[in-house]
Amino acid sequence: MAAQQDRTDLAVLMAHIDEHYRARRPQPFRRGEDIVHIGTASYGAAEVGHVLKALLAGWISMGPETIEFERAFAAYVGTSAGIAVNSGSSANLIALAALLETGRLRRGQEVIAPGATFSTVLSPIIQLGLRPVIVDVDPLSYNVSAETVASGISGDTGAVIIVHTLGQPADLDPLLALARTRGLVVLEDCCEAHGSRYQGRVVGSAGDIATCSFYVAHNMTTGEGGMVLTSDPALETVARSLREFGRMRLDNPVRYSYNDGTLVNYDERYVFERLGYNMRMTDIAASFGIEQLRKLDAMNAQRIATSAYYSARLARYEEYLQLPTPPPGHVHSYYAYPVVVRRGAPFDRARLARFLESRRIETRALFGGSLVDQPAYRGLGLRTAGDLPTTCHLRDAAMLIGCHPRIGEAEREYVCDVFDEFFASGSRSQSLIAAAPE
Ligand SMILES: Cc1ncc(COP(=O)(O)O)c(C=O)c1O
Repeated sequence: MAAQQDRTDLAVLMAHIDEHYRARRPQPFRRGEDIVHIGTASYGAAEVGHVLKALLAGWISMGPETIEFERAFAAYVGTSAGIAVNSGSSANLIALAALLETGRLRRGQEVIAPGATFSTVLSPIIQLGLRPVIVDVDPLSYNVSAETVASGISGDTGAVIIVHTLGQPADLDPLLALARTRGLVVLEDCCEAHGSRYQGRVVGSAGDIATCSFYVAHNMTTGEGGMVLTSDPALETVARSLREFGRMRLDNPVRYSYNDGTLVNYDERYVFERLGYNMRMTDIAASFGIEQLRKLDAMNAQRIATSAYYSARLARYEEYLQLPTPPPGHVHSYYAYPVVVRRGAPFDRARLARFLESRRIETRALFGGSLVDQPAYRGLGLRTAGDLPTTCHLRDAAMLIGCHPRIGEAEREYVCDVFDEFFASGSRSQSLIAAAPE
């Protein structure tokens, strides 16, 4: 009876939620008044309804929804396991810690990472007593390449972190061949690349372990969240344990049956095998994520269409702006749309970004730019492979604009019109640097 009543209550609530979203028609875009956001969540009745179902089921911490989300996301990526966590940063920390715990890496070994990326690609390497080696990125894809990684390898290198920057897949075949030849463990950071495809395969299953972030501005979201992905059972077991206090794997159905000579007939729920964390995802987040995953390919198609529009309209400024150019076989998922001001352009990034911002178009730098130049890492004497010319150029000249699914035709036309206005103002005064308003 109670279950029947719950189903009826949920059906009534769902009808209200559907009605709420149907009634909320998108307002026409007001040029120059409404903000064109860099990234914002796209969700509706399906996500809200699924969260409500989880709440009504009475299980709000990690539980059945999280297990379902892990299975669905791992199946989508093509790994045998997904370990849901509370952020992409936690996923990177757990992935590296699992590599250490399983002996794939030794404390003190070097880990190669790109120079131009997000802070929590680099920080966990240092936090776990490994030694980062920063390599440059490719000038077209903004990803590490086999050449840049090779330039950082020493006799002490244990792993490489391949970040698929902004959703553009890294050129995996030569990278994996190099890793195999040099015996390097591969961690794929897919935090910006949900659903990106390399030679037909979704990124995240090529290396030993991979990570994802579901922060709100990403291609799919759980508000905050992340996942570790692997097809290696030993890494999976350890990653699950690290996520959950360092607890032993719970697969013995007989309670109070753990014995090791010191703990006798002990409650196996509280056997801690290693130093762990609590980085679990909640069922509230996971139920949201299940619905987002169902829409991921469709949402990515919208990002790709908006990016194609930007590329077509902005192509006339290619003398000054470098635009994304994914090669054949690489499906870019456009976490955001990158614009890089070319060396020698008669204006700088700040000038262009301030112009866009003055017209209510949000912009961002490429995360940490060159991470070794950030205050947190400056004094640490980190080893870099050479002087990272592309990374430094991206630090100084790269800028992101939004291409998320809530950007419609009116918004994207407006964005390109503002670029036209920027360049027209420059040609009128012959100096873009002098002409663009603050
Ligand atoms: C490449 C990369 N790795 C890791 C992270 C961390 O993810 P989160 O913000 O979920 O902690 C980010 C953040 O966007 C990222 O861009």
